[in-house]
Amino acid sequence: MTNVMSPGRGSRSSLGQRVRADFPILEQSFDGNPLVYLDNAATTQKPRAVLDALVGYYARANSNVGRGYHRLAFAATDAYEESRAVVQRAINAEHPDEVVFVPGTTAAMNMLADTFGRATVSEGDQVVVTGMEHNSNLLPWRRLCEATGAELVVVQTDEQGALNPSRFADAMGPRVRLAAVTHVSNVLGTVNPVRELIDTAHRWEVPVVVDGAQAIPHRQVDVRDLNADFYCFSGHKVYGPMSTGVLYGKRDLLTDLPPWQVGGGTVKDVRADEPVRYVPAPARLEAGTPNVAGAVGLAAAFDYLTEIGWSDIRRHDETLVRAAVEEVGDVPGVRVLGNPAADPSGIVSLVVDGIHPYDVCGHLDHNGIAIRAGVHCANTFVDTLDPVGTVRLSFAVYNTVEELELVSRALRTVEPGLWTTEHPTERFL
Ligand code: ALA
Repeated sequence: MTNVMSPGRGSRSSLGQRVRADFPILEQSFDGNPLVYLDNAATTQKPRAVLDALVGYYARANSNVGRGYHRLAFAATDAYEESRAVVQRAINAEHPDEVVFVPGTTAAMNMLADTFGRATVSEGDQVVVTGMEHNSNLLPWRRLCEATGAELVVVQTDEQGALNPSRFADAMGPRVRLAAVTHVSNVLGTVNPVRELIDTAHRWEVPVVVDGAQAIPHRQVDVRDLNADFYCFSGHKVYGPMSTGVLYGKRDLLTDLPPWQVGGGTVKDVRADEPVRYVPAPARLEAGTPNVAGAVGLAAAFDYLTEIGWSDIRRHDETLVRAAVEEVGDVPGVRVLGNPAADPSGIVSLVVDGIHPYDVCGHLDHNGIAIRAGVHCANTFVDTLDPVGTVRLSFAVYNTVEELELVSRALRTVEPGLWTTEHPTERFL
């Protein structure tokens, strides 16, 4: 790592300047403009430590895990299980067995809906979600309800896009079997009072699934302190490799979950004429050859963040979000949505009066600035904010206040283009 502990805290976004050189992809320029990457809520870039861990694994330890009886197989299995322990410590889970490696948050939610959901929810029951969910924490529950005859109860957000905990409490009742809530909105960066929501649900003995995809890169998540029953996140949003992720579940809920996929690695024994005997979680939920290199890379990402320090990451986030609200929010015609500075979590969404978000996105791209525009895979939530979508800036450890100045400068010259004139009401994922 590039000397993250060196002096320089006094400068406005010193962390970004100090760690930038750790990310080779950021060395690029487009048409003479240095790359300004502000689409981190979609995926983060990878530090050299993660790239080296991936190459190192494939160069020195690659083998299948939990199956082979030779030295490389032992090395790979050790690397995989050590990575699980790194994640366990990072999120303060009680046991490594509570950490299931999955391809991402979407896979985790589908797995839970198809296993825990199917075992828990029946006709006439209710499943509670919030109005700000990403499709990945909405559609698996909606489909579960359609399939079982249960009712999906959506707790709507207020005019700022925030969830009122008392509305969530009002949705609880004897028919509720499960609640699924996001920790941080991927559209507005709004932080939900997850611990309070979980306490409320638990008073009704309702287990809670938390979508931590947008929280995990920005705050030190402590699943025990939250008392979350399940907590899911994607590795690629926290500087790890793509197609990695974690389903955390309390041990008593996870151990005997019905396997989602069956196959190699999930069984204690199989006989032709006897019921299959499965191993406990996590292996029973990791059928087939897992993404071992991905797990090793994800562990390297957590080690990297631990070395930076979560308090510095939080401070950096606050600096960037507040600067974005001030610098960018000051541009004529720009309206910042929600209240991202209230509890900064790396996301600022905005609209530009009279200009389609895709024209804004294209204009910024021509200036070397990568952002996301549209409905951000949260169609029903964005319906409550703007008919065609938002422009989203999302931050990472390597961003700087100076980059936000470039954004605000570019926004001052944005003009209506193709989308505004020819497709003014079309919206995109
Ligand atoms: N869920 C990711 C986002 O919000 C892809 O952009």
